[in-house]
Amino acid sequence: MTVVKVRRASAEDVPALATLRRAWTEEQNGEVVDPNFEARFAEWFATESGRRVAWIASVDDRPIGMLNLAVFTRMPRPGVEPNRWGYIANVFVLEAHRDSGVGRLLVEEAVTFARDEDLVRLVLSPSPRSVPFYERAGFATTDRLMMWTPKA
Ligand SMILES: CC(C)(COP(=O)(O)OP(=O)(O)OC[C@H]1O[C@@H](n2cnc3c(N)ncnc32)[C@H](O)[C@@H]1OP(=O)(O)O)[C@@H](O)C(=O)NCCC(=O)NCCS
Repeated sequence: MTVVKVRRASAEDVPALATLRRAWTEEQNGEVVDPNFEARFAEWFATESGRRVAWIASVDDRPIGMLNLAVFTRMPRPGVEPNRWGYIANVFVLEAHRDSGVGRLLVEEAVTFARDEDLVRLVLSPSPRSVPFYERAGFATTDRLMMWTPKA
């Protein structure tokens, strides 16, 4: 039986997380020659680590999936306890390990963290294919968010 472990990622996991990110990109775009990518990734992780929590899934110590959660602290209001919310990002499971619940385990970790840390909401931007996956984890589509992108 395949035993999947999901745990909080630390700086030691940066090479594994970068490998997963590269695998995701190459799944979409084919091989990408970018020798600086791993260094850029490590710099990004270090910069973000103050406000971002990451999890890594593995089988026999081989990384197979990841998720991270950026925590935003809202502007204080007089008379109101400070509160925070989270943005779930970069949810990825290697293709060979999909559809067996690894993604669900990763999202459950984020939801448990949100409950434990009293986050007031979790937000994410799903791909159309992943909408049912997030719905099963308790997420609902909302019309309360807007998005801006630069026009060409
Ligand atoms: C989304 C993803 C993390 C789910 O991981 P998983 O381990 O397969 O998750 P689970 O086994 O717990 O759930 C399977 C569900 O994932 C969704 N899913 C399956 N393949 C998917 C894919 N290629 N892309 C997006 N979602 C997918 C489906 O909803 C599937 O259930 P369904 O077919 O019954 O609707 C994984 O499919 C993946 O890495 N996809 C590519 C990256 C991606 O799209 N990330 C999410 C962007 S918001």
